[in-house]
Amino acid sequence: MEVVIHSEPAALAQMAADAIADLLARRPDAVIGLATGSSPLSVYDELAARCARGELSFARARGFTLDEYVGLPVDHPERYRTVIERELVSRVDFAPGAVTGPDGSAADIPAACAAYEQAIRDAGGVELQILGIGTDGHIAFNEPGSSLASRTRIKTLTHQTRVDNARFFGGELDAVPTHCLTQGLGTIMAARHIVLLATGTAKAEAVHHLVEGAVSALWPATILQHHPHATVLLDEAAAARLRLASYYRQTYAGKPAWQGI
Ligand code: GLP
Repeated sequence: MEVVIHSEPAALAQMAADAIADLLARRPDAVIGLATGSSPLSVYDELAARCARGELSFARARGFTLDEYVGLPVDHPERYRTVIERELVSRVDFAPGAVTGPDGSAADIPAACAAYEQAIRDAGGVELQILGIGTDGHIAFNEPGSSLASRTRIKTLTHQTRVDNARFFGGELDAVPTHCLTQGLGTIMAARHIVLLATGTAKAEAVHHLVEGAVSALWPATILQHHPHATVLLDEAAAARLRLASYYRQTYAGKPAWQGI
């Protein structure tokens, strides 16, 4: 696991955008894993700006989102398909239908989850997965207790996650759905490169477990310690509880420029 600590969140967004740009330069038809939540927003801003300047193109790329609420009406602004459309897809040049997500309004939920896994496999798997992390250590919507080998399935959101996400629903806890569909930890682990972003003090405990804690379903993101190419991009506040912070800083400072993340 590579840990990069930077005082400027904008620099972290540049690093993630650079990784996507390098990937698209190598493989214009790459499959990219997209995350919702506030953490990746500055990366999407950066990608939109680069696309507007003609520096990169998603025209041949494909995208898969991580998760979706169950039961939100199709025209709800916080449906993750709508969110990713608003935050990224409509601002770059993805081909129509190139970005898809789990179907939270499917009549047959298990069939929709199996179809989503199959769609990712048929596309050749995810090359680079953008991730955030919840304050309780969840990635996508894999809440504490999730199987470390799980695949796309329905999950019940924890009270904490619903409280955290109420800000997207006018602060109304009751408006936050109770269930979601989410790629499993096993699904996410199959991506070839994981780039996780975390900023702010509220993430410090989850980041401490993610990077230096014991691998445990209690802190689902810790499974990423088993990933051969996981990059964790942190600001100072999110990195505040890391014991080896100075070693991570020293390592990144001495890294050859050609290596990327
Ligand atoms: C939600 C999403 C996750 C995201 C997490 C953190 O629960 N399902 O994918 O990582 O929130 O969100 P934020 O980046 O807004 O802190």
